[in-house]
Amino acid sequence: MDKKTFYITTPIYYPSGKPHIGHSYCTLASDAIARYKRMQGYDVMFLTGTDEHGLKIEQKAEQQGITPKQYVDHTTQVFKDLWKLLNISNDRFIRTTDDYHVKAVQKIFNELYRRGEIYKGEYKGWYCTDCEAFWTETQLKDGMCPDCGRKVKIVSEEAYFFRLSHYADRLLKLYEDQPNFIQPESRKHEMISFIKQGLEDLCVSRTSFSWGIPVTFDPKHVVYVWLDALTNYITALGYGSDDDSDYKKFWPADVHFVGKEIVRFHTIIWPAMLMALDLPLPKQVYGHGWLLFGDGSKMSKSKGNVVDPTILCSRYGVDAIRYFLLREIPFGSDGLFTNEALINRINSDLANDLGNLLSRTTAMTEKYFGGRIPTEREAAPVDDELKAMALALRGKCDEAIDKYQFSNALAEIWKLISRTNKYIDETAPWVLGKDEAKQARLAAVLYNLCEALRIVSVLLKPFLPETSPKIQEQLGISGEAVTYESAGTWGVFPADAAVKKGAALFPRIDVDKEIEELNKLIPNPADPANAKPAQETKRTEKPEGIAQISIDDFSKVDLRAAKITACEPIKRSKKLLKLTLDDGMNGRTVASGISQWYKPEDLIGHTVIVVSNLKPAKLCGVESQGMILAADAADNDVRVVFVDGVPAGSKIR
Ligand code: MSP
Repeated sequence: MDKKTFYITTPIYYPSGKPHIGHSYCTLASDAIARYKRMQGYDVMFLTGTDEHGLKIEQKAEQQGITPKQYVDHTTQVFKDLWKLLNISNDRFIRTTDDYHVKAVQKIFNELYRRGEIYKGEYKGWYCTDCEAFWTETQLKDGMCPDCGRKVKIVSEEAYFFRLSHYADRLLKLYEDQPNFIQPESRKHEMISFIKQGLEDLCVSRTSFSWGIPVTFDPKHVVYVWLDALTNYITALGYGSDDDSDYKKFWPADVHFVGKEIVRFHTIIWPAMLMALDLPLPKQVYGHGWLLFGDGSKMSKSKGNVVDPTILCSRYGVDAIRYFLLREIPFGSDGLFTNEALINRINSDLANDLGNLLSRTTAMTEKYFGGRIPTEREAAPVDDELKAMALALRGKCDEAIDKYQFSNALAEIWKLISRTNKYIDETAPWVLGKDEAKQARLAAVLYNLCEALRIVSVLLKPFLPETSPKIQEQLGISGEAVTYESAGTWGVFPADAAVKKGAALFPRIDVDKEIEELNKLIPNPADPANAKPAQETKRTEKPEGIAQISIDDFSKVDLRAAKITACEPIKRSKKLLKLTLDDGMNGRTVASGISQWYKPEDLIGHTVIVVSNLKPAKLCGVESQGMILAADAADNDVRVVFVDGVPAGSKIR
């Protein structure tokens, strides 16, 4: 029987600069899924690539005095090198300058024209060069591009248009019929309201620059970069070429992973194009959040706040970075990148929890049994919980992975790691080791430790592809004992495995020293030495008219860490968001006037500080049971105080 297929894609990146950690994020997430699905036995196609046409590339090349093709040949290689460094297992890499892609795009354009889905007209409107996007007057935000905030310019030219406006109803029906088409849910609501504001036909050709795919029947026009780029998902499979067997095998895609700002292109323009061509639609578009610089700003080269993944990999190894990015931030939400959070994760989760578990287990197996666990073993009731948890782990990981909840999958694996560490304390093998009569019990304890670690190592492999084989080598296992199937069974650890303690998986890092070093290499807003320029630092006079309070006064305020589990706008208000909080107690609802600065998906999953003993008040029909803390960072700039990582319910003093 043919294997089930799974097709996953990343966006194709603009090779107009060096990739930063934000670009790596989506590729790493896709890689983890591709590896997991392969492990589960799927025939996987994992596609990534570069989006090489457009005015911006043309201008960059001109600045450097080289041709656009020379420019992209160089910068695309930088992306390829980074993916190699990060152990990205993509099956294919598409460049939109590849000949087969160019030809297929031309065929698609011609076909849409033949069908009357593309027609000739005149374009007049606002264009953002950075985003390669056209905007209507009403879509602009304070006269600037609503996505990147940069300047837009008016453009007027003869152009071809795609009848996007015809597809509004079919798109809305698609979202209804296929409720998982757009994930997470909140992004779907954004798209619905975008469509309901009215869809206009889309300008799909340009004459104002030449670095693009020429329209064959009217060559002064080049194809609009987004039409060119979106088709990559099918042209990479051979659609429109002589050999479309991969297209037949893998299309429709199981999921397109994209950043939240380009969900619109993938869930409106792309399905409408496919509908116009009578082709099947992708099963899902998942709009992930952004990785923000430590001060909450979006990473961008022009702000000088990008984090270079190669520096991090050379200091901590690739797996530490893979782990941090997939564990720290729930995939659908925005998350902060800080040097401190990275090092804390490495020390506590990787060096301590996982690393120590392996080194203690292998050291004791060597010490007491010369590395080979005797087959005479005596079970005890304390083993049962560990066994049950280990047996349930694969199902929990599968479930989280099916929903693209990387952080949850890793959290489940770490629950077993913590439980196994606790099992060492409960069973105290060093005490058993002193008693000749307890050898069979000691053998059972060490066997259970190795077995739990075996299961952990198998399920960790898609996330930490370098570390997992290291664990398996120290445990002395391979083949059948490290398959996905074997991770669902207890008692597979082979009797003849030769356990051998090896090098520490993740050496512990001296936090203070390292942060100091790292801050020199990667700007960190938390470090005063890297504070923003004076005009951005808020200086205020000592507040007048604010009475001093005693510590007793202050202690009347009960501040607690609380995790935002859900968030939605309050219909009757323009400013308020309704937050559902896990406060470590019974949970509570808080209304907060921050909708101007935060969208629900920016908040869900983050931990904030709540004034928990504030008298409840009714705001626009919602009972608000407390207040969350936020800073007036500048005029009209409010920043919520996040304390991610602090357990919900922790008292703050
Ligand atoms: N070329 C288009 C995509 C075409 S897909 C048919 C594009 N390129 S991009 O290079 O600007 O962005 C590629 C992806 O990188 C986007 O999904 C974007 O969200 C992602 N990221 C760029 N910076 C990011 C962060 N700081 N954090 C997370 N992802 C970010 O758009």
